[in-house]
Amino acid sequence: MKRQDSRTIKSLEEILGPDNVLSDARDMAPYVVELRRRFNNPARAIAIPTSLDRLQALVKWANANRVPLVPQGGNTGMVGGQVPKNGNEIIVSMARINRVRKVDGDGAFMFAEAGVTLEKARRAADGAGLLFPLAIAPQDKAQIGGILSSNAGGLQVLAYGNARQLCLGIEAVLADGSLFRGLNGLKKNNTGYDLSSLLVGAEGTLGIISAASLKLFARPEGFETAFINLASPEAALELFRELSRRLGTSLTTFELMPDFGIAMQLRHGMIDKNPARSRSDWYVLAQVSRLPGQDRNGLSQGLEAARNNRTIKDFVISGKPGEQRRMWQVREQLSSAQSREGASIKHDVSVPVSAVPELIRTGCKAAGKIVPGIRPCPFGHLGDGNIHFNLSQPVDADATAYMEGAGKIHDAIYEIVAELGGSISAEHGIGQLKTGLLKEYKDPVAYEMMKKIKNILDPNNILNPGKMLDQAPEQ
Ligand code: MLT
Ligand code: ZN
Repeated sequence: MKRQDSRTIKSLEEILGPDNVLSDARDMAPYVVELRRRFNNPARAIAIPTSLDRLQALVKWANANRVPLVPQGGNTGMVGGQVPKNGNEIIVSMARINRVRKVDGDGAFMFAEAGVTLEKARRAADGAGLLFPLAIAPQDKAQIGGILSSNAGGLQVLAYGNARQLCLGIEAVLADGSLFRGLNGLKKNNTGYDLSSLLVGAEGTLGIISAASLKLFARPEGFETAFINLASPEAALELFRELSRRLGTSLTTFELMPDFGIAMQLRHGMIDKNPARSRSDWYVLAQVSRLPGQDRNGLSQGLEAARNNRTIKDFVISGKPGEQRRMWQVREQLSSAQSREGASIKHDVSVPVSAVPELIRTGCKAAGKIVPGIRPCPFGHLGDGNIHFNLSQPVDADATAYMEGAGKIHDAIYEIVAELGGSISAEHGIGQLKTGLLKEYKDPVAYEMMKKIKNILDPNNILNPGKMLDQAPEQ
C-alpha cells in the first residue's frame, strides 16, 4: 500500500471507526465489481458509515482533502454509476444507515434511510396495511438510496410512477458536509425550487441521499395476470389502448415480449413450457391489481373483447399465485436468457407509447442491415414506452467481433429514438456508460444547466466525478 493510501485509510478509520473501513482487495471486490461486470476499476477503500454524523464528517473530510467519493447502495445499477471510474475513489456504502424511521398510515408515507433494502421497505409498508409499489430486482439487494439516486423504474411504473414520483422529499449530505433536510410527508409543499427532486436521479453527483420520504398506497387484495398471444407490437399497442381505457390505474403492468425471448428460455431449460396457450410471434404479460371490493373480471372481459375483435389471438389468465409466478418468471428471465446465447448489444430507451411499434419495426430493420443474421430481442415496459432494445449476436458469430461493431448499431438505434422524440436512457440512468450519449443527445441548454448546478453544489468535484457529466467542473 502506498504511504498516501495508508494515511487515507488511517483518516477514514478515525472518522468511521476501524470496523467500518475496508481496504483489502478481497474485501473490496463485492463493492467494486458490478452485476454485468462491464466496469472494472479499483477503489482506494470502502467506507461504511454507521450514522448520519459520521457520513457528514466523512464528506467534509473528503471535500477538504479533494478525495473523490462514489456513493453506493446495493450495487445493482446497470450503468456503472455506483462503481469507480478512475481507480482513486473511495466507495461510500450506505448499507449500515438502514433504519425505517417511521411509517405514517394516515399520511400514507414512510421515512426510510438510504440503506434500507427494497424488500425491507415493502415489508414495513405491508406491516401498516399499505403498499410501497416500486418493483425492481433484486429486492433484497437494491437499496432506497440507490433506487432514488438512479430514479429507478421497474414493473409497475405504469400505475404508480418511477422512483421520483414515489418520493415526497429527501435528506442528503451535500459536498461540503452540510445536511439538506428535505424530508417531509407533505403532498402539498409549494415553496420554491423542488430541491429533493433535483437530487433524485442525480446519481450521487450533487449530494449523498441519506433518507427519503416514500409514498405509500392502498394494498391490493389480489391480482389477475394474463399471458396474451399477439401477432405484432401494433396489436399490443391496440390492446394497451383498450385495456387502459377500461381499467385505468388498476392496470399495473403491460409488458411486451418477442417469441425469441421464450424460445431461448425453452432451449436452455430455464422453463419447461411456454406459459401461453400457444406459440405466437409476440406476447404481452398484463397484470391488474384489485382493491378490496373491486370487480375481479375487468381484465378477462377486456381480453375477451380484444379476442372477439381479433386484436389478440388468445390468452390465459390466472389469479393463482403459483401460475402467476410462472408467467412472471418468463418475463424476468429475458435478460439472463440472452446472456446464454452469446453477446448482446443493449439499449434502455423510451419513446412515446404510440411510437413503440415504429421503434421496433425500424430498429430491427436497421440492425439487420448492419449485421445480417442479428437476432433482435426488444422487450419490456410497453405501457411506459420503455423498450429494452436488445440484440443478440447471430448464431455462430464471434462474440468479440460482434461487440466491437456495437457502435454502429448504437448510432442507428439512438438516431431512430431521437427522431421519434424519445430518450437515450429510460430507466437505467447515465452513470459512466452513457456520459457521451447524454452530451450528444441532451438539449444543449439543459446540459449547460446541469453543468452549472454541478459546479455550484460540488465545486471541488468530489461527488461521483466523471459520472453523468463527463467533465471536471470549471474552477
Ligand atoms: C428489465 O426490465 O428486465 C431490466 O430493466 C432489463 C435489463 O436487465 O436490462
Ligand atoms: Zn426494465
